[in-house]
Amino acid sequence: MEGGRKLFGSVRMPGAKNSVLPIMAAAVLCTGTVTITDAPVLSDVRACIRILNRIGCTVMLCGTNIRITPPEHPGSSIPPELMRSMRSSLFFLAPLLARTGQAEIGMPGGCRLGARPIDMHLEGLARMGAEITEKQEGGWMLKAPHGLKGAHITLRFPSVGATETLLMAACTAYGTTVLHGAAREPEVTDLAQFLQSAGAQISGVGTSELCIEGTEFLFGTQFAVCPDRITAATVMFAVAGCGGEVLLTNIRHADLHCCAQLLERAGCSIAPLGKSAAVIASSGRLRAPGSWQTGVYPAFPTDAAPLAAAALLRAQGESAVLDSIFENRFACAEGFCRMGAQASVCSRTLRLRGVPELCGAHVTAPDLRGGAALVLAALQAQGTSVITGTEHIDRGYENIAVLFSQLGGAVTAAEKQREGFEMAQ
Ligand code: EPZ
Repeated sequence: MEGGRKLFGSVRMPGAKNSVLPIMAAAVLCTGTVTITDAPVLSDVRACIRILNRIGCTVMLCGTNIRITPPEHPGSSIPPELMRSMRSSLFFLAPLLARTGQAEIGMPGGCRLGARPIDMHLEGLARMGAEITEKQEGGWMLKAPHGLKGAHITLRFPSVGATETLLMAACTAYGTTVLHGAAREPEVTDLAQFLQSAGAQISGVGTSELCIEGTEFLFGTQFAVCPDRITAATVMFAVAGCGGEVLLTNIRHADLHCCAQLLERAGCSIAPLGKSAAVIASSGRLRAPGSWQTGVYPAFPTDAAPLAAAALLRAQGESAVLDSIFENRFACAEGFCRMGAQASVCSRTLRLRGVPELCGAHVTAPDLRGGAALVLAALQAQGTSVITGTEHIDRGYENIAVLFSQLGGAVTAAEKQREGFEMAQ
């Protein structure tokens, strides 16, 4: 990358990674064909397709459309190497258990943001009647030979993944399930609306109390994935840090409210255009917005914290952001410092003191959003930067080099063998 250029142009946001992945898993609950439209083309989506193929689903990927036809009797176990490929392999647990009466999984992979246990997923499924045994070699075997039964479950923390697991488990359980303290992220709402489109009886969507009346089965459907709010935040913070003016389309203003507030406090201007677009403009010289912290929706999203930090590396003054969600969100701080930033991490807080300039450096992406944050820093830096470990970034962005090249950034991706994957038999 050659940094130091302002960004100009327009870009349409893709479908949300954290929505399409649970929806692809939920398709296993359906007895007919599911067509997902406006899906992002990501390595995590390809990993999901491999899991779907492995359990016997026919999957056709055509551009941003994914057609999934589950078999009459899906397989019920996911091999460890597929489980390890991402955190989202965990989303297959509930659909497999609900559809086949058992599920055998290993520990999921995903970004090393902290311990990331799955106790809330397992405890909730146990409350619904699942028999859970831990496997010697690691992983779990869950059985519910007579199906799952509705239960009143209170989540000790509004976990996005646990809410999605229990929501999927409840759709075809016997009786009523009430989830108290459910997560309210837009991607949870999107999954609920997908399930409703397949015939699920869910009320309270968008609130922290979800009530689900189990039905005998779900049928095939077609569903468009909601826009990716973190990709939108990535572009907004890139423009903020580099300077320039960019039109973003296919966005939802409510999903970006907290990011927009922080950016305006830092001196950017954000002009909404109609219901699904906005123009962000920045001089590239920001005012440090002081301290803030992340939280569960509708608070400032944890995934955007490293991205906001990257935009503030050259801001005038000091900033600090506490991530209340994960223990190790700011592994990218090391890369920031290699580019000349003044950044330090103490427990869950990242502290920044703006510097006049950043200089290009060789850095390694520690995780998905940390990697994207290093791209944003390199776009601002004078001179050449090389970022390795970009397979982390490919999990959540269709092609981050193209995303920013089309806006005027000088980003070239070293040619790499696009991983192939077998299409449906
Ligand atoms: C989802 O992860 C997202 N991933 C994450 O995005 C996002 O950062 C996170 O939600 C928070 O919004 C997907 O949707 C695929 P959690 P998830 O369960 O479900 C603890 C990205 O970059 N916890 O809400 O794993 C957990 O350790 C990714 O796109 C338990 O203790 O998040 C964490 O500290 C990164 N026990 C906190 O809760 C459990 O059983 C929040 O986790 C589950 C979670």
